[in-house]
Amino acid sequence: MSEGQATPLDRRTRAVDYAGRYQTLGYVADRVSQAVLACLKDRAAPLVLELGCGTGETSLAVARARPDANVIGLDISAVNIAAAERAKAESGVDKRVSFETADFMRWQGPQVDLIFGESVLHLVEADSSQLAEKLANTLRPGGQLVFTIPRDCFRNDILFLLRRVWSIFPRAPADRMALAVARRVYSDLPDDLLRDRLGYLRLIPERTDGTKFRDLLRRNGLSLVRREIWPVTTLLQASHSFSVWRKE
Ligand SMILES: C[S@@+](CC[C@H](N)C(=O)[O-])C[C@H]1O[C@@H](n2cnc3c(N)ncnc32)[C@H](O)[C@@H]1O
Repeated sequence: MSEGQATPLDRRTRAVDYAGRYQTLGYVADRVSQAVLACLKDRAAPLVLELGCGTGETSLAVARARPDANVIGLDISAVNIAAAERAKAESGVDKRVSFETADFMRWQGPQVDLIFGESVLHLVEADSSQLAEKLANTLRPGGQLVFTIPRDCFRNDILFLLRRVWSIFPRAPADRMALAVARRVYSDLPDDLLRDRLGYLRLIPERTDGTKFRDLLRRNGLSLVRREIWPVTTLLQASHSFSVWRKE
């Protein structure tokens, strides 16, 4: 087992097993790809990196809408990347999209014009200053960093407190109960997608969008271009901000 790889114990005790699957929802892929495309409108033939691409729908949507773009989708989960590869095979844009299984902190790819990560940066297990440095180093000069991340706010403080309480209960029966409730509330969503999300009910972010993380990005040569509050779509979802940063 290589250094830094999850041990079986890590995977049992962690809230979310990143070796598992995270199915990207269609409406999320639409919303995020539109936001990314707006950021790319003045950039010809861009190279784009999606960090934590899940099952790949957003990367494919960006490539479809921008025939001059090349897109790399990166995810730490081989299960996600296998699903993304299957979607790519039927996408018609397979020559301009590549998917890779990797931890972003260890990834050694080229510099890109735009990095985007929908609900991913708070999950990356690394020191925040090293993450900020890695993000900045992965961008070409003038490149953009576009992400959503849970933000510092009272709603999230309460939600994360509830998640800590939820984590105290034995996992198997708690998950069975949560799944039974979710099946009733989200009867239109597939069962496997609901199961993907169970671990996230216990997830405490590594970092949030607040002064500390924003300062780290600034110290690494990034400037904030735009920031807004992203709409919350379910009661148990953390409130996220959407930000666009530019490398000088
Ligand atoms: C909450 S999911 C979001 C997936 C996708 N962006 C979406 O919107 O549907 C977070 C994703 O980040 C991936 N991830 C977590 N840590 C990562 C890391 N260090 N490097 C690459 N991917 C990571 C997980 O495997 C998971 O697919």
